[in-house]
Amino acid sequence: MNRPDHDLVHDNLTSLQAHVLSEEARYPGAQGDLSWILSAISLAGKTIANKVRRARLDGVLGAHGTENVQGEQQLKMDVIANEIIMRCLGDRASVAVLASEEDEEPRILRRSGEGGKYCVLFDPLDGSSNLDSCVGVGTIFSVTVNDPEEPDGEKTVCQPGSKQVAAGYILYGSSTIMCLTTGDGVDMFELDQAIGSFLRVKTKLRIPEKGETYSINEANAETFPEGYQKYLRFAHSSGYTSRYIGSMVSDVHRTLIRGGVFIYPPTAKNPDGKLRLLYEANPMAMLIEQAGGLSYSGDQPTMQIQPERLHQRVPVLLGSPVEVARVREFL
Ligand code: AHG
Ligand code: MN
Ligand code: MN
Repeated sequence: MNRPDHDLVHDNLTSLQAHVLSEEARYPGAQGDLSWILSAISLAGKTIANKVRRARLDGVLGAHGTENVQGEQQLKMDVIANEIIMRCLGDRASVAVLASEEDEEPRILRRSGEGGKYCVLFDPLDGSSNLDSCVGVGTIFSVTVNDPEEPDGEKTVCQPGSKQVAAGYILYGSSTIMCLTTGDGVDMFELDQAIGSFLRVKTKLRIPEKGETYSINEANAETFPEGYQKYLRFAHSSGYTSRYIGSMVSDVHRTLIRGGVFIYPPTAKNPDGKLRLLYEANPMAMLIEQAGGLSYSGDQPTMQIQPERLHQRVPVLLGSPVEVARVREFL
């Protein structure tokens, strides 16, 4: 379009809603069920963003006084974010099962016979222990197809990451950013608070092939398996820089944008790694691979692992293809 006033208005005027509907239109048989779920996730993200940014004002920082199934202290904000997502997604007719880091069991809302077509798994507030220090935190989500033959909720959601139909995160950082994939590349949206809409700012995002930044909690280095320690010695002597925020969404987003590698190895405290396969490692692996990167958990690609349990933990090695391959040479 070459009208002279065209350049007076910024280009980012494609909303998430418009983007999702135009994607849906590419699938003739689509009934809009996935679009409805993504719209519910967008509403939940905007609501959580608002709550995160006023948590101290509203007096909801700090512990909730309960433990989640993983034996972790639940923060008030973990419970609030969980409740917001459950409410936003719970009344969407196409949701069969909701599974959360904060709930021991998945919640079965609708059988296939009642329209339950998709399962949504999520980490309602990732990195929440950083909230009181005002560091970026986020929501991670993964969407899979419901298995109508499987009556057991946990078995229904225990599908390999390769079966995900959509995955993404919302990062509540210096701005509120959503990165989303539905299997055809990664698109990025920024929340324009003035109009309450996620506007598309990048399409078909590609992770840089390489990047001399590694992201790992070196406090645990003594207990990493030997291969990781060898890699660290290589990185230290090769001019790499280290960046570790301690909330996966922030560390993965930086890796996606700037390149590099994010690693959470097995440690003495978490011999299988700390991050959960179903609602942390798998959705991040789908995004990173859709952007041209790689994601491994142990010696397997993350998305090929057959999950056994909802809260199963795995080691994570993801990022730029050149950097992930370099780490794997040492493992
Ligand atoms: P959550 O807040 O959902 O429990 O996740 C915290 C995770 C992840 O965000 C981050 O990468 C990791 O914990 C950091 O763990 P360490 O503090 O052990 O490095
Ligand atoms: Mn998390
Ligand atoms: Mn969490």
